[in-house]
Amino acid sequence: MGRFADRTAVVTGGAGGIGREVCAALAAEGARVAVVDVDEAAVESTVGVLTGPAEGFVVDVRDPQAVAALMQDVHEQLGGPHVLVTLAGGSLGTPRDLAEIGPADVDLVVDVNVKGTFYCCQSVVPFMVEAGGGAIVTTSSIGGRQPSPVTGVPYATSKAAVVGLTKRLAREVGGRGVRVNAVAPGLFLTGRLQQMYDAMAEAERREVLDAIPLDRFPEIREAVDPILFLASDEASYITGVVLDVNGGRFMPL
Ligand SMILES: NC(=O)c1ccc[n+]([C@@H]2O[C@H](COP(=O)([O-])OP(=O)(O)OC[C@H]3O[C@@H](n4cnc5c(N)ncnc54)[C@H](O)[C@@H]3O)[C@@H](O)[C@H]2O)c1
Repeated sequence: MGRFADRTAVVTGGAGGIGREVCAALAAEGARVAVVDVDEAAVESTVGVLTGPAEGFVVDVRDPQAVAALMQDVHEQLGGPHVLVTLAGGSLGTPRDLAEIGPADVDLVVDVNVKGTFYCCQSVVPFMVEAGGGAIVTTSSIGGRQPSPVTGVPYATSKAAVVGLTKRLAREVGGRGVRVNAVAPGLFLTGRLQQMYDAMAEAERREVLDAIPLDRFPEIREAVDPILFLASDEASYITGVVLDVNGGRFMPL
């Protein structure tokens, strides 16, 4: 049955490039999966290909009331939740370069990546405690771990904030059986990231590729497997860590 038999997993951004694959992998390992995203058509198509029990939820993670209702609905329809993976986020189509960034861009990036992650975590914790424990995997980024030429200042700010959120939350809820860890992916060329990468100057593109010791871009599976590891009992004594998944491009000591 796999590592997630009899568990319910909520995946925000679950209809996105990485999210879809995370949902599929969780379902293949026995989880009941709640696919959460603002893209209704993509939610439907994602749920449609999942093996096992799955429900789609069209929810904007920026809305705390909607997020609280989401967790209650998931609890009633699928049980748990025992696992939360927060992938909703990104640069969200906002400009990279400083002079082009407006206040609405800053709000969007911070609201989805930081506040959205917070609301989801805050709402899910009581259900995890009631279920006897749980695991949260948040999503930072190499852009929040070191200055990256691919994404802009608001994105870097928000993904660094996710690290602080993750560690502080892990400190608070560990005693109640809830683990909280982050993944910080390097550059995975999902749809929008491919466009951003293609739009970069040749020298910037070379800077990125030359800085990857493994000397190649990753497959999506190589982000999915670390997320499932942190969400599973294999990581039962791991909390408050950031798992850098970047081919060695950033190596903190
Ligand atoms: N792809 C990469 O190289 C990379 C690298 C580092 C970090 N990340 C992070 O991983 C996560 C997923 O990235 P991806 O490449 O799959 O991106 P993606 O754009 O394919 O997926 C993001 C999903 O989030 C959804 N979403 C956006 N705003 C939302 C909101 N307010 N409420 C609910 N859902 C919302 C989108 O509809 C989309 O389906 C993001 O947080 C991103 O910042 C990605």
